[in-house]
Amino acid sequence: MGGGIAYQSAVKGTPVIMKDINQAALDLGLKEAATILGKGMQRGKVDVATMASTLNSIVPTLEYSAIKDVDLVIEAVVENPKVKSIVLAETEQHVSDDTIICSNTSTISINHLAKSLKKPERFCGMHFFNPVHKMPLVEIIRGEKTSEDTISAVVAATLKMGKTPIVVNDCPGFLVNRVLFPYFAGFSRLIMDGADFVAVDKVMEKIFGWPMGPAYLLDVVGMDTSDHASSVMSDGIPERMQKIANDPVTLLYKADRLGQKNGKGFYNFSLDKRGRPAKVAAPEAYELFAPHCAAKRDFDKDEIIARVMIPMANEAIRCLEEGIVASAAEADMALLYGLGFPPFKGGIFRFIETMGLANFVALADKYADLGPVYQISDGVREMAASNKSYFA
Ligand SMILES: NC(=O)c1ccc[n+]([C@@H]2O[C@H](COP(=O)([O-])OP(=O)(O)OC[C@H]3O[C@@H](n4cnc5c(N)ncnc54)[C@H](O)[C@@H]3O)[C@@H](O)[C@H]2O)c1
Repeated sequence: MGGGIAYQSAVKGTPVIMKDINQAALDLGLKEAATILGKGMQRGKVDVATMASTLNSIVPTLEYSAIKDVDLVIEAVVENPKVKSIVLAETEQHVSDDTIICSNTSTISINHLAKSLKKPERFCGMHFFNPVHKMPLVEIIRGEKTSEDTISAVVAATLKMGKTPIVVNDCPGFLVNRVLFPYFAGFSRLIMDGADFVAVDKVMEKIFGWPMGPAYLLDVVGMDTSDHASSVMSDGIPERMQKIANDPVTLLYKADRLGQKNGKGFYNFSLDKRGRPAKVAAPEAYELFAPHCAAKRDFDKDEIIARVMIPMANEAIRCLEEGIVASAAEADMALLYGLGFPPFKGGIFRFIETMGLANFVALADKYADLGPVYQISDGVREMAASNKSYFA
C-alpha cells in the first residue's frame, strides 16, 4: 500500500519520501510505481518524461531524519496496533509541530491510535483502497480530537492526489468496511443455509450489478484480511456482528485457502491459454463447507439479493443515524467509489428509496428472524411511517 500511495502522490506532482525499515520493502515500493508507469507507457498513456519525473519524485529512505521537513505523513506499516502506535510516536518526534500525521489503517480505531501522539488534533485516518492507483475513494476518518484544520488539509491533499475524499467519524470499520461486513455475514448465512456460492455470485453480478459477487470479492480481499476484519467488527459491534461459528470464510482461512493471493479460496485461480487470470469454483471449498451447511438447494434471486443487501442497507442507515457519515448522498458516493456499488443503482440509500422505505421495512421484517443484521432501527421505521426521504 505504501508503494501505491507514494506512486499516486508523485504522479500528481507532489514529491514523496518513502520510509521503511527494510531495503527490500523500499525496492518493492519503487517497483510497484515502476510497474504501474510501465503499463501506462505500453498503453501510450504515460510518456518517458512522466515516468522519469514520477520515479524521481519518490525518495526511498531508511532514516527518520529524511522526513523532518514534510507537511504530511501517511503511515502505512503493518496492521498491528502496537507497531502502529510506536511508529506514529516515533514519527511525531521527527517532524515539525505543524506536520499532519495520518494512518492508512483499515481496521484500527483512530481514537486509539491518537493516544500515542502528543498532538492528536493533527492526526486522522486516511484510508486508501487497494489498488491505490485505481480505486477513486479515500476515507478520511475524524478522531474525537482531530481538528477541523487537519480535516481540511487532508481533504485538500486527497484531492491533489486525484482522489475523492469522504469524511467520516471514527467507529469500527469506519463507513465502508462497517457496511461491507454485514453484507458478508448475510452471504455466509446464505451459504450455511444451503445456497451455492457460484449461484449467489451470479445473481449479485449479473442481476444486481456488482463488479464481483461476494465469494469472488472475498477471494480478492483475502480470507486472512477478512477473518481479521470480521473479528474487529465482532469486538466493536458485538450486538450485531458476532462472529458466526464455522463461517465459510473462517473455514477457508483455517484451511490456508486465502483467496486470489495464494490461488485458492472459494475459487481456484489459474491463468488461461492467453495468460489471463481464470477462476473455477473449488471442489475443495464445497467439501470444507458441507459438514457445516444445510443440504444444497436453489434460492430465488430475490431472496439472494434481499439476504445480502438488507444487512448492508441496515448498517448504512445506522451509520447515518449515528452521524458516522453526514448525509445519504455521501454514503452513496462512498459505496460507489469505495466498493464498486452498481452505479446505475445510485448507491445504497438510492437503492432503499427506489424500493420505497415502506417496502424496505416490510422486506427487512420478513427476514428479521435471521438475526440482528436484518433487524431495522426505529429511525427507519418512523421515516417509512411518516413518508420521509433520506434525500429530503
Ligand atoms: N492491502 C490492502 O488491501 C490494504 C487496503 C487498505 C489499507 N491497508 C492498510 O495499509 C497498511 C499496510 O498494508 P500492506 O498490505 O501494504 O502491508 P505490508 O505488510 O505489505 O507492508 C507493510 C510495510 O510496513 C513496513 N514496516 C513494518 N514496520 C515498520 C516500521 N516500524 N517502520 C517503517 N516501516 C515498517 C514493512 O517493511 C512493509 O514494507 C495496513 O495498515 C493495512 O491495513 C491495506
